[in-house]
Parts: sequence; C-alpha cells; structure tokens
Amino acid sequence: MKRLAVLTSGGDCSGMNATIRAVVRAGLANGIEVIGIQKGYQGVLDRNYQLLTTKSVSGKLQLGGTFLQTARCQTMFTEPGQRLAAENLMGLGIEGLVVVGGDGSHRGALALQPRGIPVMAIPASIDNDIPFTDMSLGVDSALNNILHAVDCLKDTASSHDRTFVVETMGRSCGYLALASAVATGAEYALIPEFPFDIAAISAALLRRFQEGRDNSIIMVAEGAGKAQDIADQIKDRIGFETRIMVLGHYQRGGSPSTFDRILAARFGVAAVEALQRGEAGKMIGLSCGSLTLTSLEQTIATGRKPLDPGLLKLARTLGN
Ligand code: F6P
Repeated sequence: MKRLAVLTSGGDCSGMNATIRAVVRAGLANGIEVIGIQKGYQGVLDRNYQLLTTKSVSGKLQLGGTFLQTARCQTMFTEPGQRLAAENLMGLGIEGLVVVGGDGSHRGALALQPRGIPVMAIPASIDNDIPFTDMSLGVDSALNNILHAVDCLKDTASSHDRTFVVETMGRSCGYLALASAVATGAEYALIPEFPFDIAAISAALLRRFQEGRDNSIIMVAEGAGKAQDIADQIKDRIGFETRIMVLGHYQRGGSPSTFDRILAARFGVAAVEALQRGEAGKMIGLSCGSLTLTSLEQTIATGRKPLDPGLLKLARTLGN
C-alpha cells in the first residue's frame, strides 16, 4: 500500500485529532503516504484534501475537535454520492480509507467498500452506542466533562437546598446519563431505555429533603426528555425550586482524557496495520482491553448497542 486517506465524520469528539496523528505516524513509519480529507465525506465529494506530514500533526494530540473538521454529509447516503466519492478516491490513488466517526459515517464506509475502496472504520461518538466495542472514542472525555460540571453544580446546589436536572447528550442512548449518574452519585438517571415515574421520583425527592439532604441531582438523557419539562413537572408536584443545566455541546469538546489518547493511538495504528495486512470493510473495536475487528456489515446490521446490564444494576443498587 502506497497511499491511504483519513477522514473524520459526523459529530466531533475529543480524541479525533489524536487518532489522525496516530494514522499519519503509523502510515509514515510504514512508508505510506497519508492524505487528510477535510470535512468528512463532503471533502471527498469536493476533493478537499491535503497531504499530511509529521509536521501537520505536530501539537494536535492534546486538542479537542478535529483539525480536519467534520460534517454530516447527506449526499453520502445517496447512490450518486457514493459513486462520486469512490471515483474521487480512486482518482487520488487511495488504497485504503480510515473513517473516524459514528454509525452514519460507518454506513458511508460500507458503501465505498464494494466500489473498490478498502475501508477501516474507527468508532468515535460520545454516545457510546456503537456495537462491538466496549468504548467508542470520545466517550471517556465527554464523561469527564460531565463529571466536572456536575461536581461544580453540587457545590452550589447544596448551598441552596436545590434540586437540579442535568441534561446530557446521547441521542437515543442513555449511556452518558447513566454512567455519569453512577460516577457523580446523582440520585436518578432518566434514560430512554427505561420508563420512569415522575410522581414517584418527586415523592422520593421530597422525602430526601425532609430527611435533611441538601441537594438532589437528576441526570436526564436527551432521548428521555427535556430538562426543563422534567424540572417543571417536579416543581408542580412538590413545589421545590428545581433548576436545570443543559450540558449540550460542551460535552463534546476539550482536551482528550488519558484513556481517549491511548485509545486513539491504539485504534489509529491498528487501522493502518489492518489495511496493510489486506483487511478491509471492518471496524476496530475494544473488547475487554483487547482490539478486535468486526465486519461493518455486522456492526451496522446489529444497530445500537444495548446498555451494559452491569452498569444498570450498579446504578439501581446505588441510586435512591
Ligand atoms: O452523536 C453525537 C451527538 O453529540 C449526540 O449526542 C447529539 O444528539 C448529536 O450528536 C448532536 O448533533 P449536532 O452536533 O449535529 O447538533
């Protein structure tokens, strides 16, 4: 293999820059030229790319976001878009494409594979909903962002006897809300995977304050409802001043955690090595500490990863 390309696609996350760096350095170490494509698949269609050198990736490891930028490219879901993308990559002499992104991005990769472009996908999404990997890139950093915000919030909540409803991202997956509830000691995690009863939660909050607890934190995944709606419902029932914090895109930014930096290094190098061995049409994953390769057909057919039952059990045991 003489030339490969790398792109970041879909929602950004911390660790994307570190992954690009790992791909570039592993490529160059193996005598492979690496092309960086700007703005995901949109850059493939627009032929927006640059040759990456060690200098291009110098000083990028610790930065959040992605210096190649990213986009959600609807044209890549169409047949003419996929055809044009494959033609452009072939015209560039690309013999392998590393796609760093979530399930939508991996669908694009899978469409390119039968069109003659060997692809290797890296799971990157704060939602942690991609199957066949214990963790996706960016999840740990996003959780650390949430933890920092909630720890700060608890200080002020307890000074005022307040209840806060904190809304996390995650699309239709409750992982971020659930994991951060365990890690911050929040009272409740409202997640789309399970029904919840606001009347029962409100009654329990009232009991907590009557027992002398000075704050309550309720994590709500965006897929389970809006923080403001939940807060209003609680206030209507028990009359407490209930405030909200919507974490939004803050969760996706910032310097990657140690875990994500090492994961990025492992994923990036493994993607280059797998392509060089002739592997293609696969996704790198992390399973019980080891790297795995799963066919993209399988990862995409499986759909969203179910929540870890161990984490659920933990949250139930420790929660209110
Ligand atoms: O998939 C990652 C994610 O951050 C989701 O958690 C969220 O629902 C969505 O992307 C937000 O997308 P955008 O940045 O396009 O608003």
